[in-house]
Amino acid sequence: MKCVQEQFEHALLECKTAKDVEALKLRYLGKKGIIQDQMRLLKEVSPEQRPAVGAQVNALKVYIEGKLDQFLSRIVDQEREQRMAGERLDVTLPGRAHFLGSKHPIPATIDEIVRILKDLGFSAQVGPQIETEYYNFEVLNFAPDHPAKDMQDTFYIEPGILLRTQTSNVQGRVMERTSPPIRIACPGRCFRNEEVSARSHCFFHQVEALYIDQGVSMQDLFSTFREFVQRLFQRDDLEVRFRPSYFPFVEPGTECDATCLVCNGKGCQLCKYSGWLEICGAGMVHPQVLRNVGIDPEKYQGYAWGMGVERLIMLRHSIRDIRLFSENDMRFLRQFHGA
Ligand code: DAH
Repeated sequence: MKCVQEQFEHALLECKTAKDVEALKLRYLGKKGIIQDQMRLLKEVSPEQRPAVGAQVNALKVYIEGKLDQFLSRIVDQEREQRMAGERLDVTLPGRAHFLGSKHPIPATIDEIVRILKDLGFSAQVGPQIETEYYNFEVLNFAPDHPAKDMQDTFYIEPGILLRTQTSNVQGRVMERTSPPIRIACPGRCFRNEEVSARSHCFFHQVEALYIDQGVSMQDLFSTFREFVQRLFQRDDLEVRFRPSYFPFVEPGTECDATCLVCNGKGCQLCKYSGWLEICGAGMVHPQVLRNVGIDPEKYQGYAWGMGVERLIMLRHSIRDIRLFSENDMRFLRQFHGA
């Protein structure tokens, strides 16, 4: 009996984990364990000695149970302490900085332009980037041999289907299915087969504005454009001027300029010493365009303008290379954070 107890104590000291203790428990107290063996051996003891030996076996069993419980609870405590030591939070560690993204300057500026136009009564409309030659050119009064339609300038997907070169493509689509008054702002991406350089890219963005109603005059174009520019640049003192120009879908056609943001009209490098910045092309919608979409030009008139978004941002932030917008260089993009 003494030797069983000693062996047990020895084995107990070897236990390192709660699992070891459980295994030892099974070995001694289990159904086929050592204590049960001892119980069975009682049969072989003489009847006189049996009560005394039985009592000894019992005492040993109680002793082993007690020791195992004690040891187990100590190990469980130890294990918990170890775990907690490993999990301890080091509150002195510096926090992880969160990276906050921001909107790319192009969609951010488009949003701004469209919001201002909405405030002025226009509603946003979008059109397809893959377009028919008809809506991109023909309905807009481009002659069949107009150089813009040339393979050099336009990406054709197949004969008659192309990547739109201008957001003016939305004009015909909307006018065809809407009766005046029409007042829409159409933002989107355009494509031209241009050599990529600091000044031009094969894709860029425009926002088109179109207003068709009875009695619309050039004065409406002038005053709405001035209001728009003043809101966009948040400066009431900006003036606008129109210079004659040519676009097949307007008559008369104009280039619209605004007072130079940097020199306030005195002349500087940005405005090439003219005092004016070129903002967009515009004009009174050509009667032929109205006829093409089934609107009577005797009854309705309208104006349209189309501005390049990249160009506008470049003027505003003195950016010299249009390629920066599509290079995903974080050093460039971060500058617009919250702009
Ligand atoms: N779509 C023209 C372009 O990409 C810009 C333009 C000029 C739009 C005059 C207009 C306009 O609506 O009236 O060059």
